[in-house]
Amino acid sequence: MTHFQDKVIYQIYPKSFKDTTGNGIGDLQGVIRQLPYLEDLGIDMIWLNPFYKSPQRDNGYDVADYKSVDPMFGTMDDFDQLVKAADKHGISLMLDMVLNHTSTEHEWFQRALKGEKKYQDYYILRDPKPDGSLPTNWASKFGGPSWAPFGDTGKYYLHLFDVTQADLNWRNPEVRQEMFDVVNFWLEKGVKGFRFDVINLIGKDEDYVDADDGVGKYLYTDRPLTHDFLQELNRETFGKYDDIITVGEMSSTTVENGVKYSNPDRDELSMIFSFHHLKVDYKDGEKWTLAPFDFQELKQILDEWQTGMSDGGGWNALFWNNHDQPRANSRFGDVENYPVETATMLAQTMHLLRGTPYVYQGEEIGMTNPDYPELDHFVDVETHNAYHELKEKGLPHEEAMNIIRAKSRDNGRTPMQWNTNLHAGFTEGTPWIDVAPNHTHINVENSKVSQEIRDYYKRLIRLRKELPIVSKGDYRGILLDHPSVYAYVREWEGQQLLVLNHFYAEPDTVEIPDEFLNKEAEMIIGNSGERTLEKEFQVGPYETVAFLLK
Ligand code: GLC
Repeated sequence: MTHFQDKVIYQIYPKSFKDTTGNGIGDLQGVIRQLPYLEDLGIDMIWLNPFYKSPQRDNGYDVADYKSVDPMFGTMDDFDQLVKAADKHGISLMLDMVLNHTSTEHEWFQRALKGEKKYQDYYILRDPKPDGSLPTNWASKFGGPSWAPFGDTGKYYLHLFDVTQADLNWRNPEVRQEMFDVVNFWLEKGVKGFRFDVINLIGKDEDYVDADDGVGKYLYTDRPLTHDFLQELNRETFGKYDDIITVGEMSSTTVENGVKYSNPDRDELSMIFSFHHLKVDYKDGEKWTLAPFDFQELKQILDEWQTGMSDGGGWNALFWNNHDQPRANSRFGDVENYPVETATMLAQTMHLLRGTPYVYQGEEIGMTNPDYPELDHFVDVETHNAYHELKEKGLPHEEAMNIIRAKSRDNGRTPMQWNTNLHAGFTEGTPWIDVAPNHTHINVENSKVSQEIRDYYKRLIRLRKELPIVSKGDYRGILLDHPSVYAYVREWEGQQLLVLNHFYAEPDTVEIPDEFLNKEAEMIIGNSGERTLEKEFQVGPYETVAFLLK
């Protein structure tokens, strides 16, 4: 048994968690203050989004100094204090490592611009094509081309994300050494985990060629060199310890690569985030569209990843929410009429799968998208670019806004809702981004709905620790063509855990296969009162239930 199978990780977006200074921005002291809340929830580790020095063009994913704390979040002393204080609560820290690119304000980029050859080799610089056009036709993930002029040198630098996020040249051994130093720096401070940002993009090929699709993802994602670089990173840094948990954020990856990244025999990472299950409400694979989610596709993807990763000895990070996603409750449920059922059903679906669950701040109290009325409420650079692209395509303002409201990453970045006070108790100042109006009835301190959801999360978290079948059991998808229920069974040492998750409000029936009947069936958790397992099993709105069979 590896050391992460029974763990639950809580993601904190520091900017929006708890502000203790009144500057409207959450800070490290805010995390310290809320440690009792996190201990009470039962989580083991906190993943903190980037708090390093940064111009914040992409909310800290544009790092200007990897070994620093941005003053807006506090000081290095605060960080050291956090490590110690968290430890007292039985919680360890996972840091976000943004190693694919730096901010263009990073000293390396600035020195490169001034002509220092050493630092020019830190980035990916290319000449234009002979006809003067960009080195390749690849698109930036945040819209527009992925190349920008490198000062007045006539060359271009690659930026797969914002123009202020320059991709690093991992083929250069000096760059790799710098990255290892960064990881080791934080390890020495007592950090026990790392989340590696878009890490499957680091192994780019030597030659840069045009993409057939004019986008280029397939030319730079999951390239073979990525695995070599990860093995080297492992060897030179966290692999020297035996209790470090690592997770790679894998953009557009495959099960085959997922296995390679996370099978312990390959000494790469503990587990990976994949995103296919969160694209089932994209029309024709396009994010900036509106479409109801495709439930059959959702089930098929979850099943494929569960089965494939298990067969190959890989390990999944389990999640619905993070700082890049609209709130899952708003996407896959009914937050108006069934807020508790929706939140608990989604939680149970994930938490009882094979993998390590991640809870994103606010998820445990049922936070939703804020439904901001106008564009000026949104802060995210990707969102603003998308709005302008939608307008350019000819969409009227209100139609574009409907898409933005449903899809913006800011949906997941609104301040944590602590209570009914002004700004939900997040800050005494003016928050950097507006609080969702529903903090009056969805919040930690005074909401019955939130309390019920939180209690359910606590039970799910405890179950993973109490029942080995949850942390270690095999997975098998069943009744995969049922129109409204995602059912699966976990199996371990002769026991079975049957989990039924109903994704709709209209009641339905599940025909329970005979193999699960005529056994001793103990209901261990559910969101709809006491239930007994029977052949024609009726499920209510967003009902979830799990039976242990012996
Ligand atoms: C990851 C982060 C996202 C960021 C991007 C570029 O996808 O989660 O927030 O914008 O990488 O660093």
